[in-house]
Amino acid sequence: MAYLVNGNDIFKAARENHYAVGAYNTNNLEWTRALLRGAKETRTPLLIQVSTGAAKYMGGYKTVKDLVLNEMNNMDIDVPVILNLDHGDFESAKECIALGYSSVMFDGHNLPTDENLAKTKEIVKLAHERGISVEAEIGKIGENQGADGGELASVEDAKTFVAAGVDKLACGIGNIHGVYPEGWTGLNFDRLKEIAEAVPNEPLVLHGGSGIPQDQIEKAIQLGIAKININTEFQLAFQAATRKYIEDKMDLDKGNKGYDPRKLLRAGTDAITDSMKEMISWMGTAPIDSKESSVQFDEASLNEE
Ligand code: 13P
Repeated sequence: MAYLVNGNDIFKAARENHYAVGAYNTNNLEWTRALLRGAKETRTPLLIQVSTGAAKYMGGYKTVKDLVLNEMNNMDIDVPVILNLDHGDFESAKECIALGYSSVMFDGHNLPTDENLAKTKEIVKLAHERGISVEAEIGKIGENQGADGGELASVEDAKTFVAAGVDKLACGIGNIHGVYPEGWTGLNFDRLKEIAEAVPNEPLVLHGGSGIPQDQIEKAIQLGIAKININTEFQLAFQAATRKYIEDKMDLDKGNKGYDPRKLLRAGTDAITDSMKEMISWMGTAPIDSKESSVQFDEASLNEE
């Protein structure tokens, strides 16, 4: 029977040993399977997360949790899996705690700091009573805007939020969600170093992990980043492979029912797993053991009526 873990030991070990564990957003059934497959085949821990928008699209937070657990059972997943709410507001965080997510991010960055802190403490209390992990955000992670990213996180806020009991801390250090703009000035390593020294045992989180050059990812991990959030990278991988399928006119092959979504989405789904494996190698994610593993796609399911 599949179960979720809160990941606190996993991320602490990552920070201590200078590697990172990927936190990947799911967007639908195919994404969920692609991520579980990547984790199973690399024998690495997996954090699957869902944004509020993606959860709405998929039918709500409960649907997402049921999907993840059911697929873990179907795919016989035997690596640790964490299910995290990504960028939740106060109500969403409470809902996911009640539903039994194993981790929630309460993102109060747009609130005045005092209110963000008070609400974070409430979420920490509710979550910790149930053994659920909490992530908070300080500073502002940029959103597809200026080349210098969002507002930098302050060292004082880092200390305050860690003292409030959060298990992971997302810091604005020049990182941006989505595709990085031309002329992006890069991560602010000076600020990351100051924060990492101020909270030496706290796993730090890098949002906007897509499109950051490998050397910057590696340096950030050396300085204290233990969780890297990735969504856009896999969307682009999915898009490119799906575009190729269509440009190669595979969807027009009526004899083979190339238009059937089970076939049309297959190349894109495989591309997500491939891209995930590349990121795992960049992050140096430690496998849980050395057992060989592979996931066989059920080919027959493509042609059954
Ligand atoms: P990207 O889409 O830029 O990879 O960011 C993902 C993220 O940080 C989710 O919280």
